Amino acid sequence: MIISIAADHAGYELKEVIKNYFDMTDIPYMDFGTNSTEAVDYPVYAQKVCAALQTGESDFGILVCGTGIGMAIAANKHKDIRAANCTDTYSAKMARLHNDANVLTLGSRVTGAGLVLDIIKQFLSTEFEGGRHSERLDMLNML
Ligand code: RB5
Repeated sequence: MIISIAADHAGYELKEVIKNYFDMTDIPYMDFGTNSTEAVDYPVYAQKVCAALQTGESDFGILVCGTGIGMAIAANKHKDIRAANCTDTYSAKMARLHNDANVLTLGSRVTGAGLVLDIIKQFLSTEFEGGRHSERLDMLNML
């Protein structure tokens, strides 16, 4: 499992915390920036992570901005991307279980680093349930 991760300037510092967790736990990842707190545009970074998923270079994406909302809106405009903005572990679990979300978006100005790491652990350790939920994903693809 390879994670692609990116952030805008608001999410940069939290992205570094998340990368440290990945380093400590030997979870492979690709970092698509940004690499400082200098202002950048979140759609650019969402697009980089979504492209890595679409080509199969990575299995899941993590996008961090101030609220997670802009990243979610941007990511969900991409084909085959199902992004969920999560601020709690229950939502992270259900985003995988029922929605087969492949991108997790996080808000650095909303959710503290400790909870963010728990959200990530939950997201990455939950399998899609399939069944009736697969049919709903098919419906989403036709919208
Ligand atoms: C940047 O100030 C902020 O607008 C951005 O990080 C994000 O929260 C947008 O949704």
